[in-house]
Formats: sequence, structure tokens, C-alpha cells
Amino acid sequence: MVTANPTGTDSRPRVLLTRRIPASVQSKLEAGCNLELYDGPSPLTSDELVRRLRGKHGLVCVLTDPVTADVLGAANDLRVVANIAVGYDNIDVASAHSRGIVVTNTPDVLTESTAELTWALILAVTRRIGEGERLVRRGGWQGWALDFMLGMELRGKQLGIIGRGRIGRAVAARASAFGMTAVFAARESRSSSDPPELSFDELLVSSDVISIHTPLTASTRHLIDRRALARMKRSAFLVNTARGPVVDEEALAWALKEHLIAGAALDVYEREPEVFAGLLDLENVVLAPHLGSATRETRTAMADLAVSNVLAVLQGRPALTPVSPR
Ligand code: GLV
Repeated sequence: MVTANPTGTDSRPRVLLTRRIPASVQSKLEAGCNLELYDGPSPLTSDELVRRLRGKHGLVCVLTDPVTADVLGAANDLRVVANIAVGYDNIDVASAHSRGIVVTNTPDVLTESTAELTWALILAVTRRIGEGERLVRRGGWQGWALDFMLGMELRGKQLGIIGRGRIGRAVAARASAFGMTAVFAARESRSSSDPPELSFDELLVSSDVISIHTPLTASTRHLIDRRALARMKRSAFLVNTARGPVVDEEALAWALKEHLIAGAALDVYEREPEVFAGLLDLENVVLAPHLGSATRETRTAMADLAVSNVLAVLQGRPALTPVSPR
């Protein structure tokens, strides 16, 4: 832990930053605030957050920080919580709003990197890259053969996208480069003037690759369960770069083991960094360690946007990217 101004004589707003961010961005915070940085090896617990938030006006946090109603209730001076993430299921936004605390996220700046990672996973799972790499590394490759490790070609196939937000649309925009047709699933909140292309069930039964880009809410938790997986084509692939709990991992392991679907690629998990044990032994699943927005450019832009949000609110201006309870 580094305390930038430990003397207590500074009258500027006090901000807790729960992860080290690029120095060029951190210096903007330091210029406008009295900053406390936590850069310990493991994420803060809610008890630690409560302790460190005493007397703080702003919080810049990440998706592993549990900003619960209890944490918010104990933070009497807090005016703004800026998540360095587009998803904000780690924050009780309703509770924050009821206390007059502004919550912000980092949309747009991570759209392209997350869409690129999604395509990396689509290609990796349909062309068996993880399985092939493991074989080569353990010295098990016997050489080229006509019928060896055949995958699925993307051209002419349907990409079903669950979630028609910025990232879902950016993934869809790249589909034609691979000769795929992108379709979207219905979303409860969409207006009647913007009709969905397919119902959720139609998308499940007809898609060759299904990619999840919906936030985690009460209505999307375990959206992909045993029933949904059993509706998919046996030749289809599931990709999740959104939030782990949208997929029931135990059900997914069952579907992959029983070959009810051809494969899956995951970047997110129900209990990160744990991965459901039943998935670890399967060859037909690609497992990435939550890398969706993990490029240097994007992570710097995310930190910069979060810092701009905190400074705006603490300086009496509107937040750039505020969020509301879902
Ligand atoms: C990453 O998962 C994010 O929500 O930004």
C-alpha cells in the first residue's frame, strides 16, 4: 500500500484507488486529489474496503472489489464510485443511488479489444488451437495427416449473439469478414420499434456459434443452463466473454462431456479465479483467464475514463459515463 499524502493536512478530496494504474493516469488523480493507493497482491475484502473508505470522497475500483450495500452504508463521505470495467455487477448500484453516490463504468473504450478477444476464442475453439497446442507441447504430435484434428469452417455459418450492446454489435460487425451471418437474440428491454431478429430459443437451435455479450443481472444468471445447452446443435460452439454466472458451468461441463455441443471457449467464470473442475480435463473447451479488455491501449483508456469520472464528480461536474440500477 502506498499513501501519497499521509500527513492529513491536504484539504483536497480523498480518493481510494484499489489497483495500480498507468503512471500517466495516476498522476492526474494525484494532481486533483489526496490519493490512497492499495496495490496489495490480492483483491480487497469488503471489511478492508470499509476500513479504507472511511473519510474518502471517491473510489476508483475494479471488478473484483465487492462494493456491497454494507460497504456503501459504512462510507459516509463517499460521493462517487468509478469502476474500471464496463460491467458493474460488483457494485450495488441501487444502494449507491439511494445514498446519492454516483456510479460510473468504462463503456466504449474496451469494445474493440473485447470483440477481438471474442474472435480469437471463436477461432481457437472451432479450429482446436488449444487442444493442438497441448498435444504439440507434450510431444504427442505424430505428423500431418489428411483427417487429423479437423475443425469447423466458419464460412456460411450462423453466429448467434446474445446481447445487442456495443460489444455484441462489434462482434457482429466482424462476422462478414469470416463469411458468417450474425443474428441477435431478443432482449427483454428492447422497444417494439427495434424488433429482435430471433427469439432466444430460435437462436439456440439454429446457430453454429453462440457468443454471449449480455451483462450479469438477475434475469441473465444461468441463462445458459442444461435446458438451453440441450437446445443447441450438437455441432455448435458456445463462447462467453461477458460474465461467468451467465453460464451454469456444471451444466456446461455436462453438455461438453456428453458431446451435446461441439465445444466452448470461456474467458469468464462463475467463481473467478476458480474454474469448475469438470471443465479442466476436457479437450473441447478453451479456457482464457479473463482477458477481454486486456490490451495496453484499452486498459490505459479504461483507467483514464474512470479517473476522469471521479474528478468530474468531485469537482462538481456531471460524470461522463454514469450508470443506473439495472
Ligand atoms: C471486464 O470484464 C469489464 O467488465 O470491463
